[in-house]
Amino acid sequence: MTQDEMKTLVGQAALDYVTAGSVVGVGTGSTVDKFIDALGAALKTDPQRVVGAVSSSVRSTERLLALGVKVLPAESVSSLAVYIDGADEINHQGDMIKGGGAALTREKIVADLAERFVCIADETKLVDTLGRFPLPVEVIPMASAQVIRRFTAMGAQAKVREGVTTDNGNVIVDVTGLSITNPAQMESDVNQWPGVVTVGIFARNRASVCLLGTPNGVRTLTF
Ligand code: A5P
Repeated sequence: MTQDEMKTLVGQAALDYVTAGSVVGVGTGSTVDKFIDALGAALKTDPQRVVGAVSSSVRSTERLLALGVKVLPAESVSSLAVYIDGADEINHQGDMIKGGGAALTREKIVADLAERFVCIADETKLVDTLGRFPLPVEVIPMASAQVIRRFTAMGAQAKVREGVTTDNGNVIVDVTGLSITNPAQMESDVNQWPGVVTVGIFARNRASVCLLGTPNGVRTLTF
């Protein structure tokens, strides 16, 4: 089974976690695109499968609107039962690195509204310790050099992602050379640095469930 087929499988499986007639939180990325495709197919036979969505990016909003799904502003929703999103890495406790698609801030805002975070990923994303994938950090541009210096002082390597401006008008600093053994602590620490909008560690908003695509089908991890 190819990686793309595994993504299709978990995108489809995520539908089982969406209560009929609810408003669903929708993340961003190639795996979420598969979920949106599956949702679109379901809406053809059941137009009330969901009554709306809260989206975490311009990209997902456009795809949802193209399927006729009503997209509600996050500010208009006090809670969501479920948020469906991918990850760049997930550990065995459900902590994640996210932001490979630069949508991490809005993803964390929508995830924070949700009672359950259902992570959909192929098996290559499961790791023992977070940090192999470069950690994305959304930063207000004038703080980027200082944020890079702080990571360098920790022994890591950091650089601004070229050619990328986030949906919020900021830059992404990608950090390599970290071994994130205490994700919640590092999330809190980096979020305190002036100019950091969001660090791409999702520990305080970690996954409740991960649907992992494997060559043998969907493996469900619960945390
Ligand atoms: C977007 O900013 C990210 O957090 C994505 O959720 C993550 O990069 C997973 O993307 P893929 O499903 O494309 O691997």
